[in-house]
Amino acid sequence: MRMVVANWKMNHLRRDAEAFCASLLGAYKPVDGVVAAIAPPFPLIPVVSRLVAGSAVRVYAQNAHAEAKGAYTGEVSMAMAMDAGCTGVLLGHSERRQYNGETEATLLPKVKAAAAQGLLPMLCVGETLAQRDAGATLDVLRGQLSILAQAPEGPIAVAYEPVWAIGTGRVATVEQIAEVHAFIRKELLALMGPRGGDVPILYGGSVTPDNFQDILKVPHVAGGLVGGASLDPAKFLKLLDIA
Ligand code: G3P
Repeated sequence: MRMVVANWKMNHLRRDAEAFCASLLGAYKPVDGVVAAIAPPFPLIPVVSRLVAGSAVRVYAQNAHAEAKGAYTGEVSMAMAMDAGCTGVLLGHSERRQYNGETEATLLPKVKAAAAQGLLPMLCVGETLAQRDAGATLDVLRGQLSILAQAPEGPIAVAYEPVWAIGTGRVATVEQIAEVHAFIRKELLALMGPRGGDVPILYGGSVTPDNFQDILKVPHVAGGLVGGASLDPAKFLKLLDIA
């Protein structure tokens, strides 16, 4: 299975989402084994869900809270994300680790809550440039993946996004991606047993239609988690074509 996930981050208003979905659905031909998903900002989740209803396009949340409900001002629960039309949720994106203090301690309950709700948790991992330069990449990833030793039942996905490649136009080399994806697969098998072999591992970080083909050829790369290029429906369609 291959996946192309559009992470819109904090971009687009309703009119942009409507235009995007109109262009996408006008040309999108679903292919067996290729998942197309859009992760819009929260207010656009119901908008996009309604527009893609009846198509094969899935909608993911960019985050959600671990608690089911209560006094958590400004938060959105897994059930709310699902109620709004999501089938998956990104968890631990590096921007949330950086700006919102996400750690393994906050992420494990979120992974469990997502799975309990029936949402696909997509755990994002990745090292900073300083960590890579210090030769700490694999140690950092080992720590970030460690929560999957307690992975709940049900499907889980992982996205490797080197922080230094996000939004920088500096894509990781295929050698770097190959090394890390092989390492992640080994860790998943050690942490989760045989089902770790089935976890899709996506790559993210300056993915474009120009580099996606080469990235997809790397062993253990199951698709792309795409930021900038996913804001343009023509590029998103091209990425789906390539997948
Ligand atoms: O989650 C996707 C992302 O962080 C990569 O962003 O803009 O480098 O494709 P971008």
